Amino acid sequence: MDDNGPMISQSLQDTFTAVDGYIDSQLVPSDLALDFARHTSEAAGLPQIAVTPSQGKLLHLLARSVGAVNILEIGTLGAYSTIWLARALPEDGRLVTLEADPKHAAVARGNIANAELSDRVELREGAALETLPELAAEGLAAFDFIFIDADKENNANYFEWALKLSRPGSMIFIDNVIREGAVVDEVSKDPMVLGVRRLNEVLAKESRVLATTIQTVGAKGYDGFTLALVLKAC
Ligand code: SAH
Ligand code: DHB
Ligand code: MG
Repeated sequence: MDDNGPMISQSLQDTFTAVDGYIDSQLVPSDLALDFARHTSEAAGLPQIAVTPSQGKLLHLLARSVGAVNILEIGTLGAYSTIWLARALPEDGRLVTLEADPKHAAVARGNIANAELSDRVELREGAALETLPELAAEGLAAFDFIFIDADKENNANYFEWALKLSRPGSMIFIDNVIREGAVVDEVSKDPMVLGVRRLNEVLAKESRVLATTIQTVGAKGYDGFTLALVLKAC
């Protein structure tokens, strides 16, 4: 929040990371395809901003809880979260994931194939604000679960698209909405913070969803997510 470095002390961060390690060791066993996705992403120099294992499992649990058959992900990176989500699908289910960066998309495709999920995952390359209208024009079935995790500046736009592409009962999950607490800074000029604040202005006025936001700490520091349940179709 200030310019004097991270607001979470190293010792506190070490504790968050150790606790995540403990939770993973008890509840989130490692897995060859997920480990491969993380390693290839790192080796290719992708930013190390994928969800943590326990967050990936939360996405998986939520998608399964709503009985998701069609999942939309905005922001693929190396497909780490994609794999968690796609594994929540039944055999005839489908996940569409949107990625703007061709290098990220190439790594992701390899990881999706390695996880033997190519039959149910479709990666669409391009800026999401260009691929989302294409998806809508195709008139596919509504998405049951939508994970918004791309450029935070466009969060409000992605949320509007998510509503258009959903049905009553769909769940929308938006990542990284706390930004080490910077979200409360009313004079922030950080485009990511502005993007989250704009999303909250939209959510506050939106009667078609029930939403809440949860702050989190863990191996990725202090952040949080918004969960919205669609009540009414557009
Ligand atoms: N969901 C991933 C992390 C995504 S990181 C995981 O948890 O494993 C955010 C991704 O969004 C990056 O790969 C970035 O290239 C992509 N992105 C950024 N701007 C975008 C845009 N306009 N359209 C689509 N993808 C975008
Ligand atoms: C950033 C993006 C993410 O999706 C994330 O989980 C963490 C950080 C970022 O762009 O800084
Ligand atoms: Mg994220």
